[in-house]
Amino acid sequence: MIRILLLTLALSLGLPAGLTAQETPPDPDRSATGGAQTLEDILRRQQGLPIDDRFRRDATGDPSVAAPSTDQLGTLGGASDPELWRALRYGTADVTASTSTPGATLLMQDSGAAWLEFREGPLRTWGGYAVLGMLGLLILFRLLRGKIMIEAGPAGTTIERFKPIERFSHWLLAGSFILLAITGLIVIFGRNGLIDWIGKDAYANLAQVSKWVHNNVAWAFMLALILVFVLWVLRNLPHYRDLVWLAKAGGLFSKHSHPPAGKFNAGQKLIFWSVILLGVSVSASGLALLFPFELPMFAKTFVALNQIGAPGWIGMDPLPEQLTPHAEMQLAQAWHGIVAFAMIVIIIAHIYIGSVGMEGAFDAMGDGQVDLNWAKEHHSLWVEEVQADAKAAPKGATPAE
Ligand code: HEM
Repeated sequence: MIRILLLTLALSLGLPAGLTAQETPPDPDRSATGGAQTLEDILRRQQGLPIDDRFRRDATGDPSVAAPSTDQLGTLGGASDPELWRALRYGTADVTASTSTPGATLLMQDSGAAWLEFREGPLRTWGGYAVLGMLGLLILFRLLRGKIMIEAGPAGTTIERFKPIERFSHWLLAGSFILLAITGLIVIFGRNGLIDWIGKDAYANLAQVSKWVHNNVAWAFMLALILVFVLWVLRNLPHYRDLVWLAKAGGLFSKHSHPPAGKFNAGQKLIFWSVILLGVSVSASGLALLFPFELPMFAKTFVALNQIGAPGWIGMDPLPEQLTPHAEMQLAQAWHGIVAFAMIVIIIAHIYIGSVGMEGAFDAMGDGQVDLNWAKEHHSLWVEEVQADAKAAPKGATPAE
């Protein structure tokens, strides 16, 4: 489980696989202990290294393999309590439960501890550092580059950039995402951050409200994601001139060098596709969390990844294709958190450029009208297109966007 969590973390952070891969040792010689745990096993466990403990699983409940009860450390004929716990741990015990919920008969599962450690540790620290890192980069960018101004100065005439339906969809997406991000951060950092500040009782109420908001606002986010996709996908298809824009970093770092761009430049296309792909992924894992055990998707995803040999690309063994219902839920939570942090980091940069970072940008989503000189500097090809359409349109007709 820890390897899966580390793989997902490594994949999302682009870490080299060597940092996470730790090989299970070859079958150790256990003759000295009569097949039981060895000193080497204990030492490896203390160091947190993987242990080949098949010997425990294989011996479960088999009296012929158990030490005789006449021995000093003998068991009760292979049916002692440790045997029962082993059977529970390795899923070989015959458990019946009065409910039929998936996973009801699973009484013990090791991966829970690894998941909790990941959630309390790397997810929060790396996620927190990523958010702070992006804020730091934006402050640095502001200090070095200053606010991006309309170089020719405002023209005083405007051009329609976004229609009401586009602005409605954008603000539905933005409003819902911001609420989801704030409430999600409250839930993930609350226990070890907020409780110390506001106390347990206040946090209990805040956590309850946050959870309710998070679960329900998710629907608005998914609806807005569909609307934005439908409205803007054609304008965000890749084009060779995007490479020119990217090569010049969009002129963001130098004045007087705006590369030509259509309605959306390459930077905005990257934002669009990140929002769509990460948005779908965060929604899918969120739905799996909203409907516990009903939407397991990781085992299926791992089968597909193994089929194309993806784990091997980063030097890892194939991923497990059989997962317990609880492991599915834990992976859904871990993935949901990783993707959410990635989105938050990207969106912080987007919010900066779309508001205080660039003169004239906010108007596009404010009243839908942008200054003509702003448009010419940032979306020259789109302006030419709009003006050509306006000329071609019969007199009195509304110009096309
Ligand atoms: C207060 C927060 C936000 C502000 C001020 C803001 C501002 C803007 C502006 C001004 C534009 C139009 C840019 C142009 O005319 O070229 C835009 C576009 C867009 N926004 Fe936002 N936005 C915010 C939050 C969000 C959030 C939370 C999301 C998604 C989760 C989002 C997704 C998008 C997308 C996909 C586009 C089109 C691509 C792009 O222009 O980058 N926005 N936003």
